[in-house]
Amino acid sequence: MRLVTLEVENFRRYKTLSLDILPGLIGIKGPNGSGKSSILEAIFFGLTGQPLVDTNKNDLIRWGEKKGWVRLTIDADGSTIAVERHIGREKATLTMGKDKISGTRAVNAALEQLLPIPTEYLRDVLFVAQEKLDEPLTGVESTRKDRFGRLFGCARFDRLREILQEAIVRLSVSANPPSPDQLTALNDALNSIDEQIAKANLEQGELEKALKEVDLRELYRIVSSPRQKDLLEKRTRMEKRQQVLTDILSGFTEEETRTFDRAGLADQWRQCMDKKTMHQTGVCPTCGHVSEPLTEDEVAEIDASLASIEQARKRVELFDSTASEMVNLDNGLAALPLPDACVTDEMAQEAEKWIAEATKLDSALKETLSSKRFAEGKREGVVNAIKEYHSQCAEAEKVKGRLNLLTAVRDVMHRDAIQARLRKYGASRINDHLQVFSSVFNIPYRVFFTDEGLMRFIDPSTSTEHDFIELSGGQRKLVALTYRLALVRLFTRGLNLATIDEPTAYVDEENVEAMREAFISLDKFAREVGMTAFVATHEPALLSVFQRVLEVGDV
Ligand SMILES: Nc1ncnc2c1ncn2[C@@H]1O[C@H](COP(=O)(O)OP(=O)(O)O)[C@@H](O)[C@H]1O
Ligand SMILES: [Mg+2]
Repeated sequence: MRLVTLEVENFRRYKTLSLDILPGLIGIKGPNGSGKSSILEAIFFGLTGQPLVDTNKNDLIRWGEKKGWVRLTIDADGSTIAVERHIGREKATLTMGKDKISGTRAVNAALEQLLPIPTEYLRDVLFVAQEKLDEPLTGVESTRKDRFGRLFGCARFDRLREILQEAIVRLSVSANPPSPDQLTALNDALNSIDEQIAKANLEQGELEKALKEVDLRELYRIVSSPRQKDLLEKRTRMEKRQQVLTDILSGFTEEETRTFDRAGLADQWRQCMDKKTMHQTGVCPTCGHVSEPLTEDEVAEIDASLASIEQARKRVELFDSTASEMVNLDNGLAALPLPDACVTDEMAQEAEKWIAEATKLDSALKETLSSKRFAEGKREGVVNAIKEYHSQCAEAEKVKGRLNLLTAVRDVMHRDAIQARLRKYGASRINDHLQVFSSVFNIPYRVFFTDEGLMRFIDPSTSTEHDFIELSGGQRKLVALTYRLALVRLFTRGLNLATIDEPTAYVDEENVEAMREAFISLDKFAREVGMTAFVATHEPALLSVFQRVLEVGDV
């Protein structure tokens, strides 16, 4: 693969430019500001669609114009690839035979496949900013290693490590198991609760046994039974009264009681009272006839009759009431409970004492049961907390496993692990090319990259190994050039293009002479391998080397 033509319109200071490109070295000659670097910029823009230097894309359009374009043709094993990029009216196409790809993104992707190197690396590999030729080979060692590694994809591993590190930090939070003190405290609590429950069970058993031994029904029966003493007193009282009544009744003969005329006495009493009323009012209260008043004797006789009737009536009443009371008393005595059904005061007191004792036992049992239930509730809570503790431990263990895995993967990607292997691989690949270019440039040392990606050289005369920075300024430029060319060979498969801008800047005369010889060798080499190298320079000593010189400044 080889760049064949370059055409531009309204690009930087060029109105138009059309170049046919052949293998070998092409010198670009012209004073400062004449447009040498602009040619290299145009090639870079054609390949990547981006400005080479840190500037706005529209700044590439020729001043005073609104749009411009760059067109490259590349020969790829006989078939032609044309890449066209417009600025101002953004447009990109890649044509290969009948196939045509449009759009910056698609064109870039196709070129990345063809070259094959990501656009971002083209800047480091193909295009050498004039003063930065040896920059990647100098500076702090770690930066140099990283820079070298980046060419072989190490930066991706750093990004991955960052992502993994973030995940590890986030996971670590839940990787800590709860403190074992927590479990000890929970187990202590459980033991003390179990002790409480066992104690309550013991108490419950004892109380229930004690309560079982108490026959409450019997005790209540005793308490509610009549007292023997009361019964005795009552019976004595009643028997005494019975005696009194018997005495009264014995005052009545059978003859007397049989002849009691209760109705006759009432009748006689009413007649006497009628007579007395008639005497007082002059009118009979029964038939209403007017009668003669009674004599005093008659009145006295009536009063005497009334008194004797009253006396007789009272005697009858005494008998009747006594007899009736006697009947009631007999019934009462018959109804008295049997002595067997009565209890003594002592018995009742004893029973009451036992009832009080049983009540106490009962409330103690209730209290024991309720504190047992409370302890059982608490136990459930502690058991759940222990379960939770164990599940947290298991979770932490799982997370720890994941963390170990992530950490292992992260460590594999470390700059001293897989990245180191990549650098080692890169070094072995690039060293082959370095050797080729070292001989092209007649470099008197054996130049190579260490496995870590640091450039070193060995002086064959002393067999000592030295770092790149121990070379003289001019030698550094020369060796840096071999490094750049080695990269070109390594990364751009067959594009076979190198662009070198002002390689003699900061190089002393003696070394310019060395560089001159180097470029003669490079020209020979380039022709042999079909490589094109643009060298922008205003160094007359160098220009004489180039068989083809492009003079700019007259655009
Ligand atoms: N968009 C532009 N249109 C016209 N001229 C430009 C534009 N951008 C830069 N220039 C001019 O082009 C010149 C830079 O060209 P350059 O290729 O860097 O020169 P050199 O030969 O020194 O490498 C400067 O004189 C600059 O003013
Ligand atoms: Mg320049």
